[in-house]
Amino acid sequence: MSEQKAPADSCVLVTGGAGFIGSHTVVELLERGYRVVVVDDLSNASEKVLDRIGKITGEKAAARLSFYQADVSDRAALEAVFAANDIDYVIHFAGFKAVGESVLKPVEYYSNNLNTTLTLVDVMRAHGCRSIIFSSSATVYGDPDALPLTEESPKKSATNPYGWTKWMIEQILSDLHVANPAWNVVLLRYFNPIGAHPSGLMGEDPKGIPNNLLPYVAQVAVGKRDTVRVFGDDYDTPDGTGVRDYIHVMDLASGHVAALAWMAGRTGVEVFNLGTGRGTSVLEIIKAFSKACGRDLPYVIEPRRAGDVTANYADCSKAKREMGWEATYDIDDMCRDGWNWQSMNPNGYED
Ligand code: UD1
Repeated sequence: MSEQKAPADSCVLVTGGAGFIGSHTVVELLERGYRVVVVDDLSNASEKVLDRIGKITGEKAAARLSFYQADVSDRAALEAVFAANDIDYVIHFAGFKAVGESVLKPVEYYSNNLNTTLTLVDVMRAHGCRSIIFSSSATVYGDPDALPLTEESPKKSATNPYGWTKWMIEQILSDLHVANPAWNVVLLRYFNPIGAHPSGLMGEDPKGIPNNLLPYVAQVAVGKRDTVRVFGDDYDTPDGTGVRDYIHVMDLASGHVAALAWMAGRTGVEVFNLGTGRGTSVLEIIKAFSKACGRDLPYVIEPRRAGDVTANYADCSKAKREMGWEATYDIDDMCRDGWNWQSMNPNGYED
């Protein structure tokens, strides 16, 4: 089902399309002319995202979007979605994603993330749809031996159940292709997605205390939390703090659309890193966000966080060579858009 069709004739099912990366990808797909079906159970997303998508893309484009509130592991619901829509491609974002929580609730994480994927691919094959893009993570590289990370860098042990689910789903999708070479699988390994839609209408809306650095820094900037906690300043990095490859969520969204265009008419299993290729330290992030919000953000140095790696950043030359995609936003753009979203929506989608 992955023959080359014009975007207007192609229907893309986006699981988890109301979430952070999913919603930005849906906007990008609609703006490029695709028909989009979102399945999201709203367990960690707000229905208001759908209005915001409409505001950004305009009524005409939003008319190409259908939304189903359903759990992807609900086979009957998913069957109904496939029966009602002629789906050509699936982009699979739906899943639990809090690293710390996954350590405390391994059964829930394995059960949810694996069952949704297994149900999804089973229903896909029943409907003759074998093209899938999976939302994987640089976490599958574990603690790297060498940087930058290329797609050939070895997969290593994950440090938490969330990471293992990404690792295992990559394996499951690869095995599907071994069993039936008609499958067309793209595994996108994201580095650290941050930023927000430049309109300030969509962004990351974590529930409770944010685990990730950027939403935490943004909440300090907006006065919801007192001080950024820097986890370790004794790493072997230029300023001693952890280094990551932060990528603007808009670049990630365009990466998915590039992958869709690239995979049309192909079969196989292909892996792409989606990052910028540049490493940024925790202190550099705090500095850039301070610049964006116009005041020096307070921070304290705390001990290292268990499971953190010293540094990682991507070699993204494969994505550029194969798909013609590369990241275009820099750290200042990411912090500017992150701050714009946070200051316009201090309580996320709640208000
Ligand atoms: C984490 C996950 C990764 C997941 C990604 C989602 C681990 C080991 N990895 O990546 O699997 O795909 O989130 O975005 O958990 N930091 C602070 N203070 C904070 C929070 C973070 O100093 O309050 C530091 C961390 O030590 C790290 C950097 O900021 O050096 C980035 O942390 P974070 O945003 O949590 O992402 P990762 O740990 O890289």
